[in-house]
Amino acid sequence: MATDADKLFKDFKEISVTEFFRKNKAHLGYSGAIRSLTTVIHELVTNSLDACEEAGILPEVTVELHELGEEHYRFVEKDNGPGIPLKHISSVFGKMLAGTKFHRNIQLRGQQGIGVSGVTMFSQMTTGKPLKIRTSTGTEINEIEMMVDISKNKAEIISQNAAEQSPDVAGWRGTEIEGELKDVVYKQGEKSPYEYLRRTALANPHARITFTSPDGKTTVFERSVQDIPNPPVAVLPHPKGITVDDLFNMARASDFRNTSAFLKHSFSRISSAKVHEIESMVGFPLKRRPNGLKWEECEQLVRAFKKVKFLAPSMEGLRPIGETQINNAMLSILDPQFSHCQSRSPLVHSGGVPFQIEVGIAYGGSAGRKTAEGPRAELLRFANRSPLLFDAGGCAITKAVNSIKWSRYGIKKIEEEPVTIFVNVVSTYIPYTSAGKQSIAYEQEIIEEIKKALMEIGRHFERHHARKHRAMEMENKKKALMKYSKEVAGALAKLTGKDSKELLENLKILIEKRFETGALDIEDEQDPEKPEIKKAGGGNLTDYMEGEDEGKP
Ligand SMILES: Nc1ncnc2c1ncn2[C@@H]1O[C@H](COP(=O)(O)OP(=O)(O)O)[C@@H](O)[C@H]1O
Ligand SMILES: [Mg+2]
Repeated sequence: MATDADKLFKDFKEISVTEFFRKNKAHLGYSGAIRSLTTVIHELVTNSLDACEEAGILPEVTVELHELGEEHYRFVEKDNGPGIPLKHISSVFGKMLAGTKFHRNIQLRGQQGIGVSGVTMFSQMTTGKPLKIRTSTGTEINEIEMMVDISKNKAEIISQNAAEQSPDVAGWRGTEIEGELKDVVYKQGEKSPYEYLRRTALANPHARITFTSPDGKTTVFERSVQDIPNPPVAVLPHPKGITVDDLFNMARASDFRNTSAFLKHSFSRISSAKVHEIESMVGFPLKRRPNGLKWEECEQLVRAFKKVKFLAPSMEGLRPIGETQINNAMLSILDPQFSHCQSRSPLVHSGGVPFQIEVGIAYGGSAGRKTAEGPRAELLRFANRSPLLFDAGGCAITKAVNSIKWSRYGIKKIEEEPVTIFVNVVSTYIPYTSAGKQSIAYEQEIIEEIKKALMEIGRHFERHHARKHRAMEMENKKKALMKYSKEVAGALAKLTGKDSKELLENLKILIEKRFETGALDIEDEQDPEKPEIKKAGGGNLTDYMEGEDEGKP
């Protein structure tokens, strides 16, 4: 007779990773009509930029969106990257957790190998149609239409043909991806593909990005620098940044004959001397094969890692954008009256993961956002040069920016100023809060370093711009008072019976005098060295800059 457990377990089966993400697509950023569209563009464009950078190519990326019906669009994304070899095309677009980046400790935009197969899946889920891929590594153009076999996490090829390159496209190298999407919406605004690409251009001044929006308007974000960033280098992980789970999985996958060699060659900064030191702290010989290590033994090793003194991790894997590059991009895209950028020196988070902070400030010109109520500040968050448009509330960058008292640096009410604040976190491992990769976890080291960088640019702003800015503000106040003095003089004349012209002259002299001494400004002026009395300048930038996230998972 079947037991209760038998009945319960008759439906027990394994599910594929694609099946998991089909049910939990919000984890990949597919939630809400606006966000889902931006996610698709993000996945395609980050791959193009990654591929170009690794191949040492100056990227030319084109994105087109066409409206086919209500909540129904066609997209075409094209790059001039290295192309994808025929034998890998089906895994790239049809298999999740497959890619060239996951196993390498390398600073690229992609990490897990689920981005573009997620696009194939989302397109298929909403339209029932395949994705079209045209790619060339230089010799022939391969054209493939494919879908994903969800239960098998495998590509299903619908059609495939190879064409020798015709003379007019001879030498074309790159990848073009075309597909349809439903249940998505294109809207101009903070979370739109347009905004995503504008920010991408800011953080990637070496890229040329062309975007055609559904209304047929084409925008070109020209490159402002011609140098290709140095190709990223893979660096071995540092033992201090390793968890037991990391170590256990790395050991399982390793084919080293003994744990000593595994430790020496899989991590940075573990020398033979350090291996001996570690061995003296654990209760088993390191002659053992690493793929047979037990969980408890990995725990012992990680405990030893914590006690041993290693050299600090190497920073060569980090590739910041660079101060000059950020500044050039800001000047070309925001055309501000004032801008200043800072790249800090690299540091370490979570014990052993190198990271680096870059910040910038732009004031005036096209900086900030324009609204019906006047200018507003904007915060541009980036992780490894990729814009983060969603989930601002829980992000380390937002937290750091909001903890700064901007009034100390001469920006009284930052949220109402035409100011753009730019923060890029660079790391071989960004601690994202979810697979949607839109916000950075509250790592104390990261938050502190962003704060220091912001204070530094704040001081710079104060020195070079705030005085000028205050003078302008005073001038505006004076103009306003002068404008109203005529009416005031008229009213006073009626009340007192005196000559309005004379009253007006006297009022003008009074205003001039007060502005000469700056008296009008004293009440809201603060000594930057003194502790602040009122809570000024802070405000909450998330509220002002980002609005509510659409469709949070
Ligand atoms: N436009 C492209 N040009 C060249 N290679 C690409 C392109 N898009 C994707 N790839 C390859 O496909 C792999 C899988 O991409 P993806 O699913 O987005 O994962 P990830 O970017 O996290 O590795 C990448 O690691 C890369 O090797
Ligand atoms: Mg990717």
